[in-house]
Amino acid sequence: MDKIKIIGGNQLFGQVYISGAKNTALPIICATLLTEDAVKIKNIPFLSDIKSLNSLLLQLGTQIEIKEEQCNGHLTQTISYCTPKPTSLVAPYDYVRKMRASYYVLGPLLAKYGHVELSLPGGCAIGARPMDIHLSALEQMGAQIEIKNGYVIADVNGRLKGARVSFHSASVGATCNILMAAALAEGTTIIENAAKEPEIADLIHLLNKMGAKIEGENTSTLTIQGVDKLYGVTHEIINDRIEAGSYAVAAAMTKGRLELINANPEHLQCPLDILRKVGVQIETTPNSIIVDAQNAHLVGQDIYTDYYPGFPTDLQAQFMALMCIADGAAMITESIWENRFMHIPELMRMGANINVHGHASAIVRGVPKLSAAPVMSTDLRASFALILAGLFAEGETIVNRVYHLDRGYEHLEEKFKAVGADIERIVIKD
Ligand code: UD1
Repeated sequence: MDKIKIIGGNQLFGQVYISGAKNTALPIICATLLTEDAVKIKNIPFLSDIKSLNSLLLQLGTQIEIKEEQCNGHLTQTISYCTPKPTSLVAPYDYVRKMRASYYVLGPLLAKYGHVELSLPGGCAIGARPMDIHLSALEQMGAQIEIKNGYVIADVNGRLKGARVSFHSASVGATCNILMAAALAEGTTIIENAAKEPEIADLIHLLNKMGAKIEGENTSTLTIQGVDKLYGVTHEIINDRIEAGSYAVAAAMTKGRLELINANPEHLQCPLDILRKVGVQIETTPNSIIVDAQNAHLVGQDIYTDYYPGFPTDLQAQFMALMCIADGAAMITESIWENRFMHIPELMRMGANINVHGHASAIVRGVPKLSAAPVMSTDLRASFALILAGLFAEGETIVNRVYHLDRGYEHLEEKFKAVGADIERIVIKD
């Protein structure tokens, strides 16, 4: 397991190219299963989660062609997916265990081939991660679902039928799965209380290009008129708002200035507003964000995570790291996941002053200094928060369990080195 070594204290200056969005790429890759034609996806980031999902699709019989090419000024992957005839309709435990978003094969395979067996993803470090919304919506669309030996076994006689489904939470995963299933269902499906994240809008763009009939983009009611067939297209995915928000915090914490290229400020309105209130200067163009903290006096601000367009839970840990060194107190409340404070004990080991109230709220009182330490975390975004703390802290911080970061942050050390961070990966050979 590799580690990352950081010597803190350097201000960061320069440009960071933001990569394609992981959480858009994952459902979009699975949407390619809805057609026998080849679907070419551009701007796919180099991440281990993408490799894991590609392995699952290969196992299902998808033909995959990967080409590295320049897109939006930097090197990305264009991947062509073609599944003329699946060789399996089973997503086995070993794949789903490694990459929870493997559950995005559920909707497409059931809608297109009438059967799917998916290992239940189970819980993970940040929470229980149930699938009740996905499954109940599919049942309302005519699927027969059985849970057996840790697997969801879903069948449908003929085609799925359109239905009016109402979600008890605005789940991103369930919205994607039901959109994909409904695209090929017979009749009209209406999703009420759908998620409105930008990743959903991008999936809708792809599906509509493929021939689907979906209306209601960016609202909580989506109407999908099912069609008989979907077709091959080329699609470029949006850039990663969470990666952009993470590097914005790096500029703020190091009192530097970073230009985030290929970042859409519209997708980050709530986090950028918080940064402004913290005291950071933000300038935007339609596809870039300049974060300037050179003269900033950082002041703590409260944060409440919520569904989009609220503050994203996936930036909570990074912003908590920022509040650790801002003046005054900040109340941070996590409303989406029940166990997303694992970074707190590690930040406290570096000298942060944090008081946890129950498991949903924490008061962070800013301190002038953090001190370096060996740290580790149990999830992707929390690991980035520890990198941020290390960039600020005096001395040498070692962040363990780097595989979390490799799941979601493309070329992390290279991007940080290019803007002046003293950071390197320590490769541990087995
Ligand atoms: C996605 C993101 C994840 C992000 C999360 C919330 C991907 C691959 N992951 O996860 O990074 O933190 O959105 O923005 O895109 N819920 C249920 N029943 C269900 C499904 C969800 O109760 O059937 C609940 C969950 O427990 C959670 C909330 O709904 O409290 C949101 O979950 P959801 O939006 O589904 O998260 P994911 O799609 O798994």
